[in-house]
This record gives sequence, structure tokens and C-alpha cells, in this order.
Amino acid sequence: MEIRTRSESVLQYRGDAVVVGAIKGEPLSGPAAEIDRALEGMLSRLVQTGEIRGRQSEVTVVHTHGAVPATRVAVVGLGEAGEDGLLPVRRAMGAAARTLRDRGCRRVGALLHEQVPAGTRPEHGLRAVIEGAYVGLYRGGERKSKQELPEELEELCLLAIREEAHDHFAPAVRAARAAGEATNFARRLVNLPANDVTPTRLADEATAVARRTGMAVEVMEPDRIRELGMHAFLAVAQGSEEPARFIVVRHKGREGGLRLAFVGKGITFDSGGISLKGAEKMEAMKQDMAGGAAVLGAMGAIGELGLELEVIAAIPATENLPSGRAYKPGDVLTAMNGKTIEVVSTDAEGRLLLADALAYVRQEEEATHLVDVATLTGACIIALGHVAAGIMSNDNALAEAVLDAGERAGERMWRLPLFPEYRRLLDSKIADLKNVGGRAGGTVTAGWFLQEFVGETAWAHLDIAGTAWSEKDEAHQVEGATGAGVRTLIALAERMAGGAT
Ligand code: BES
Ligand code: MN
Ligand code: ZN
Repeated sequence: MEIRTRSESVLQYRGDAVVVGAIKGEPLSGPAAEIDRALEGMLSRLVQTGEIRGRQSEVTVVHTHGAVPATRVAVVGLGEAGEDGLLPVRRAMGAAARTLRDRGCRRVGALLHEQVPAGTRPEHGLRAVIEGAYVGLYRGGERKSKQELPEELEELCLLAIREEAHDHFAPAVRAARAAGEATNFARRLVNLPANDVTPTRLADEATAVARRTGMAVEVMEPDRIRELGMHAFLAVAQGSEEPARFIVVRHKGREGGLRLAFVGKGITFDSGGISLKGAEKMEAMKQDMAGGAAVLGAMGAIGELGLELEVIAAIPATENLPSGRAYKPGDVLTAMNGKTIEVVSTDAEGRLLLADALAYVRQEEEATHLVDVATLTGACIIALGHVAAGIMSNDNALAEAVLDAGERAGERMWRLPLFPEYRRLLDSKIADLKNVGGRAGGTVTAGWFLQEFVGETAWAHLDIAGTAWSEKDEAHQVEGATGAGVRTLIALAERMAGGAT
């Protein structure tokens, strides 16, 4: 899909459709009102009869019959004017792009970037519209043997942008395209089944991303992982026939400044191990590498955009399966930083590999800022549902930066506290800590567990267990993987690199 900026107005664009927005409970305004006049009030009559209600992401497609050069106008609901920033615009554009593509449109003009809340920077509006379109257009169905018609959009034109401003907006367009593609890259990896996406395949994908964008990649095999002392990670891997991989991608950027490390949970299938999960919905546990996929997607965009910041990604990748060789409840493991862990449940495996990966990026890569992303706890779904990711951090400035990046990226997240009282829940009689703190506060005790492996380094942890997967088709995105975390990580790196848009 080509993304273009054009000076043409909603009345001039010659394409298959133009997209304008309607706010709930308000008369049509801006480009929607403009096109309504050209259509001699047809749209406002539909507002009066209640056919266009402005409800979030509701799309009404009207044929223009030559009243304007575009064949159709799609009026998409932006919901009530509120405090939600650009999220309604993102979702509306996703819904409109998807609806129009499914009706056979190939060339679509958008004006939603003109219909953003007061005070929005124009670059941010453009990014929300373009990224929203990418999210909406992703189809899923990765392993269907026949491609479903109709075809892809050929072009998305952002209209009514002054000719002189096109160069100014080019970087925002480029970044939005990279972020949109990175999101869908991650979604694809998460949607693909665990028999396709093994740790080896994840390493191959990382290698391909690094090659394409000129980054360095290192894929460590079990012998090397053992040499480094990552025995907590290896314990999780020992029940599986698929060999573990420790994947490291390095983006050089500007050296000598901050060094940002992303760590992504890469469990390609989580059966629970000896603490076996129930059969119900176990197939969903192919999503347990969503953190790793997010990190890899984000790295691709960061490399492509050539951000001036050192960024390192580490993805410990393995299956978590039961077998005669599997690790067991009661086992005591020694992590890379020397701390000993009593395994209470082999299903609390994510924190074990993240512990080693966090220690690795800190000790071996000397990262100054750590951000991990993981489908870590079912408890996070109980706490925040499928609406927001949980964030935990030992550093207020980094937590604020991640929250701000999330807002820019259109990803909701909410900070949870790491009060000292929670630490006691991890006390072990035999080792330094247990890998489970009980049902109460399960997301926070998991966060606390990770904190034990980051020392004094600034660190933030994103629990995306509730947001990595959408349980149902929504107007703005299909059911399945969401790419949670990808755009937040990119926005964070942009912020830290300085030249953020
Ligand atoms: N991968 C799961 C968490 C998860 C659950 C992710 C649902 C996405 C959707 C994780 O490894 C896990 O099994 N966590 C356990 C921890 C418990 C044993 C302390 C959980 O949440 O039940
Ligand atoms: Mn588990
Ligand atoms: Zn897991």
C-alpha cells in the first residue's frame, strides 16, 4: 500500500472512497460538512434519521453518484468528543479502511487527521490515521490455503495537506508506515501456530529482520546459554525436544549515550509443564511469545527508521512442556545473577527466562534502561481485563516515559505498585525466592520477582497477558493477535532518541 500526502480537498480527490468522521451527538463539521454540502445535505439527513449516529467505528458508506469525484464517502463514527486523545481516530480509521477494502475499494482518501481533538500536533494525527489503517487492514488467516478476496488497498491518501508541508510530514508518514508494518509483523508471528513458530523459527525471523535493516544479530544455542549461566531459562527449556534459543539483536544508533534494552518473553508454547494447564483454551498458549514478537517488531521499525539511540533486544525462546526430563515443582534453580529460585509451579515459567534475560542485558550488554514485555500473568487479565496492559517499574521517570509512549502509540496501560509488602509473598524456606507468590496480587508478585534481577538499573515491565490477543472481531481489528507493545516500544525509543514525532 502506498501512503501519500495530497493537497486535494475532500471535494477533489478522485478515488474509490473518501473517509470523514462524525462525532456522536454533534452536527457534521469540517470535511464531513463540506462533502455534505456537495451532496446537497444527504449526510445530514442521515444524521437526522439516526442512520449516521457517530458511534465509535460505525461505518456508513454512501455513493456520491458524481456529486464529487470520489465514488463513495465513508462516514465513520468517532464516538463522543472526550478525553481519549487520538484513540477514537485510530480505531475509526481502522474500521473504515477495513470496511472499504472488503467492499473492493483500492484507492482511499482520508480526512480523519483533520478531525482530531484541539491541541493535537498534526504529525500525531497523521500517525494515528496511518497506523490505524494498518491495524484495520491486517486480515489474519495466516495458514489459509487460499487468499480471501478482495485485494489489498493500493493507496491511502491523506488529503488537504498543503503542498509546502509534504516534506515536513514525510518523516511522520515514514514512521507511521514502519510502526504499522511492525505491528502486523508481530501479529502474524503470534497468530502462526507453535508448530510453525518454534524457537529456531523465531531466531530465523530475528535474523531476517536484522539483515533487512542492517542490525547485528546473535543467536545463542543451549551450550552458550549454559556458559553464560542462564540456568533458570534452561530449566524451562529442558522438558522440550525443540532446542532453546537466546536471540539478541543490536541496533547501533548513536553510541556513547543511553543504551535501551528490550526483553521479550519468547515461550512459543506454554503447556504449563509438569504443572500442566487444563485442556480448555490451551491452544491459546501459542500466544505466549507475544512479548518476543513485540520486541522483534519494534526492533525492525527502529532499525528501518535508523533511530539515533542504541537499542538491544533479547528474546529467550523455548517451549514449556512436560516430559521425563522436564523441570519439576520443588526444583531449585540458580539464575545468571547468582540468585536461587525455588520452583513452586512450572507454569510460572515466563519470569524464570525473563530473570536470566534481564540479568544478561544488564551484566553483559550494560544496558542503562530495561523494558520487558511479556504475557506473564492470568492475574493481569483479572485486574485490567483486555483493555489495558499492566506496567510496573522501579523508576518513576522511565515509567512516565513508557506511559507517555503508550499514549502516543494508542496503547492503554496502567501502572501497578511494587510496594515492599508484596516481596514477602515470594519468601522461600530453601532458596532466595519462590517463583510464585500465591493468587493474591499475582501480577505484582510476578513484577516483584523480575525486579530481583534488575539491580539498580532503571527498568519497566509490561504485562500484556490481557492485551496481546483480541477474543473477538472488532470493527477496527480482527480477532487474534493485536501486536500489543510494538508501537509503545517504538514510541519509547523515538522519545529517548530525541527526535520523536
Ligand atoms: N503464559 C501464562 C500467562 C497467560 C495467561 C498469558 C493467559 C496469556 C493469557 C503464564 O506463563 C502463566 O501460566 N502464568 C500463571 C502463573 C501462576 C502459575 C503463578 C498464571 O497466570 O496462572
Ligand atoms: Mn505458564
Ligand atoms: Zn507463560
